[in-house]
Amino acid sequence: MYVCHCEAVTDQTVDAAVLSGARTVSDVMELCRAGGGCGGCHATLQALIDASATFRPASEASVA
Ligand code: FES
Repeated sequence: MYVCHCEAVTDQTVDAAVLSGARTVSDVMELCRAGGGCGGCHATLQALIDASATFRPASEASVA
């Protein structure tokens, strides 16, 4: 499903960017162009990044 309509980027592409190391919306934008238009998808991009935290190695987990 498209998460960024401006750049026609799907959630699968964003997930791939996160798996490649993207940890911020800017990182995702740099890797796959998602978020580079109106900015309306930034909250969704951040949610996808946050959701991926579950699968990151413990060494990358933030300390609360
Ligand atoms: S919908 Fe992603 S930048 Fe506009």
